[in-house]
Order: sequence, then C-alpha cells, then structure tokens
Amino acid sequence: MKTPFSNIPEAFQITKLTKQDSYLVGGELKQWKGETSEVYSTISSTKEYQPTLLGSIPTLGEKEAIEALDAACVAYNKGQGLWPTMKVVDRISCMVKFVEQMKTKREEVVKLLMWEIGKNLPDSEKEFDRTVEYIYDTIEDYKQMDRDSAKFEKHAGVHAHIRRGPLGVVLCLGPYNYPLNETFALLIPALIMGNTAIFKPAKHGVLLISPLLEAFKTSFPKGVVNIIYGRGRTVATPIMQTGKVDVLALIGNSKSANALQQQHPKSNRLRLVLGLEAKNPAIVLPDADLDLAIDECIAGATSFNGQRCTALKVLYVHQDIIEEFNKRFSAKVDALKFGNPWENGAKLTPLPEPDKPAYIQELIDDATSKGAKVINAKGGETSENYIFPAVLYPVTKEMRVFQEEQFGPVIPVVPFNDIEEPLDDMAASNYGQQVSLFGKDVKTLAPLIDTLVNLVCRVNLNSSCQRGPDVYPFTGRKDSAVATLSVHDALRSFSIRTFVASKDNAYNNAILKELLDSKASNFVSTDYIL
Ligand code: G3H
Repeated sequence: MKTPFSNIPEAFQITKLTKQDSYLVGGELKQWKGETSEVYSTISSTKEYQPTLLGSIPTLGEKEAIEALDAACVAYNKGQGLWPTMKVVDRISCMVKFVEQMKTKREEVVKLLMWEIGKNLPDSEKEFDRTVEYIYDTIEDYKQMDRDSAKFEKHAGVHAHIRRGPLGVVLCLGPYNYPLNETFALLIPALIMGNTAIFKPAKHGVLLISPLLEAFKTSFPKGVVNIIYGRGRTVATPIMQTGKVDVLALIGNSKSANALQQQHPKSNRLRLVLGLEAKNPAIVLPDADLDLAIDECIAGATSFNGQRCTALKVLYVHQDIIEEFNKRFSAKVDALKFGNPWENGAKLTPLPEPDKPAYIQELIDDATSKGAKVINAKGGETSENYIFPAVLYPVTKEMRVFQEEQFGPVIPVVPFNDIEEPLDDMAASNYGQQVSLFGKDVKTLAPLIDTLVNLVCRVNLNSSCQRGPDVYPFTGRKDSAVATLSVHDALRSFSIRTFVASKDNAYNNAILKELLDSKASNFVSTDYIL
C-alpha cells in the first residue's frame, strides 16, 4: 500500500515549527532552558516518506512537577484561596473569558489536531466545536445547579443551605485520541467547580494546547491551572507521591490509572474520575436490517481508525446471516478511502503511534495462526504509517484480538448461534462500557435489553456506540470507568455536597438573615444567577 502523498493545501502546510519553550505555573509562562523533546507527525510532507517535525516541548522533571503542584495547592490554599471561595458568577465570568479567547484559536488547533494525531478535517473541526459547545453547556448547567441550591430547607428543626463545593487539587491527564475534547471534558468542570488543577497534555496531541496557553494564563487567577510537559512517570508519579492530590482525573488506560493511584499514600483522600478501556461489542441478530447494521458497524469500528474508547471492537453476528454480513461488510470496509486528514472523503488516516501498524499486524498474525482468515481484500495492507483494517473471521476466545483492546484498525467477527454466547462473553469481560444491538423483534429485544443494561452502561439500539450527545451519561462498569461524565454529571463528579446547618431559633435565624442581606458570604447566598 502506498503512503498517501498529495499536495498539502497551503492552509495546512507546516511553515513554522511550534517550539513550546515555556510551561504554565503559578500564573506565569515560565521559560524553559533545559532538555526538550521533538514532536513528530507520522504524516509525510515530502513524496519520499519521512515523518514531519512539528516542533518541540519541554521535558520537565520532578522539580518542575512539584512546583506546579505547589502552585495548585497555594491557589487552593486549604479551601481559603480566591478561586474556591469565589462567587459562582465570578468563576463563570473567568470561564466565559477563556472560551471566548479559545474560539479565536480554532484554525491553529484544528491544523495541529490533523498533524499530531491524524484526525481528518471534519472530525478535527467537530472536536474543537464540540469542546466549545461543551464549555457553554457546562456554564449553563452550573448556573442551573446554583439556582437550584439558592435556597434553604428545614427538617426536624434544622435549617440547611446545601450546595456543591470543590474537592481540592486535581491532576488531569487526557488521552491522545481526543486530546482536546476529552481532556477539557475533565478540566473544565473540575475548574468551574472551584478546584485547582495540574494538567499534563497527552503524548500525541500536545502542541495543540500551545495556542491556548495564553488564554489559560489570562482567564484564571494564578495557580488555578498549571500546565506541564514531560513523561508521565517523571512528572505525574512524584506529584501523586506527595499525597496532596485530591482527584485523579484520567482518560486513558487502567494500567497507568492503577500505577498512579498506587503512588498516592492516602487512598481514601483520593477521588477518581476515570475513563478507561472498553471492548464494546455489536450483536447482530438474524432479523436485523443488514444495510443499517453494516453501515453502523463500519462507522463504529473504523471511524478515527478504531482509536475511540467507544469503538466497536468485536462484532458478534448470528450464523444465519453471517455469510451475507461478511460479504457486504468486507466490501464496504475495502471501499473506505485512506488519505491524509485534509483530503476530501478520507475516512481512514495515518496512525499517530509509529509502532501501531506492527502491533495490529501481530494481532492479525496471532488470529490467522489460530484459524481466522482476513476476509477483505485490502485487509492488512501496510504503508509506513498505516495498516488497512483487516476483517478477521472466525474469531475465537483464544485469539489476542478477542482479548485485547486493539484501539486501531482491525475488526474481529465472532459467529454465534445462541444469544447466551455473547452475553456470557460480556459478563466475563473486564470491560462494561456500551453495546450495539441490531434487531427488530420486540419479543427478542426486550429481555435482551433488560440483561444488557446490567452488563454495560448504554445499549445502542440499531446504532454504533458513541459518547455523545454530551448531555447523556458517559460511564462504564468494571475496568471501563470510575465516576460518570456528562455535562451535568461531571459537575457532580468534581464536587461534593457541603452545607451550612443551623438550628431554627431566633439567635441563629437573625444571623442567617444578616448573612443573606449583607451578601458577605459567597457560599450563603440565595441570589438567582441569570
Ligand atoms: O475515546 C472515547 C471517546 O469518549 C469516544 O467519544 O464516541 O464521541 O467518539 P465518541
């Protein structure tokens, strides 16, 4: 297979390297004179294939990591900091200021998304726009939360003014497949609730944060957001070892989540907001609308080359229809266009991890050595930065591609006769995020839905799995997630209910009244935010 090369549109050419030579700590963009790491794209700028140098980032060490942690702790200041005690309306103003500045950086961020992680142009634009929308929706939801708690209640002679308060210092780590959206879906709710944060961008998709640094610096009080660069082991590990982190917010894999949690000396202090691996299955029943099922399985298994936690990573297809399914599905996979992210209609794009094609090849070799076949003509064709999605059939439990989260372009198809087979596999799996169920007969679907909702957290009827719309709960069972994210739920995941209680007597009531009338407290308030 040929690595695509076509003239790169002028707007997307790399004319200048992004040399990130500072990091954000304590409200200051600190110049870095030490070691740096070069950032390459697996996309070639020349006809003769070679990775493209995009820029460089600071390789910070333990000292700088602890400096960032200290800045976050000072900004939180044991709950007395300006940010955690600020009026909700004022925190919202900071967030509005940030998002307004962020919007002006769309072009730069979208271009870097394409180069750094190979996401195609429409999806890169969508990632940016969806993130902006997420921030506005979060602001609106927070206003509503504030309105709902702008009151007192009384039970058993005790008045209570109940709100949600911040948890403290958050260490935020995002994934490479949604380096903007998923990271901000953690960071933004964490910040708006009054927490302070240390944020380390993902390994791939790191330079695209550079255009936003100034906005972070100028929108929030110093030390509220601290942005550091470097290897996870060097910077995140010592931060966790201090025991000063209150929330670990991570979207990535459970191996790194477990390793980091274990570093924390006070496990009960540490709250977790985690989005981890998944192996979402599709179950195609004999009466399914095959055209629809095939189109949805194509989208589910191949969009962004299968590098989505919600991707369909194993397809269970009933024996009665498997022949037809395999024929039509394989043909459609082969018809997908591979090209650079800016090319019109490119559905498959270069993989950002240089070693991914070799890993996918290992999975294919393992499966074929155990009896599976690559059933599509182009399956497994490789180039310097890609491997064409291989449809593997029949896949069995002994194969690595059945057990591992492939997070890339290979599609295992498992035949089944009895619905108990996929259900048993799902129950035995370490993961429990979502499922796609294709079928029509309500008598069959009803009991299945009733079981599946207890094995995963979202049953997608006749459609592929996905996180959005972002107002819906996004979570998982078992090793797939800890806590729930959505515009609404994330605000709760990054906060705790806390309240002021006072016995109903003249002495206390007079104080409460004065607290309200004087508006001296930012917490005790019944103001209605418009
Ligand atoms: O990587 C996992 C993402 O949360 C998936 O989001 O379903 O919108 O692609 P998506």
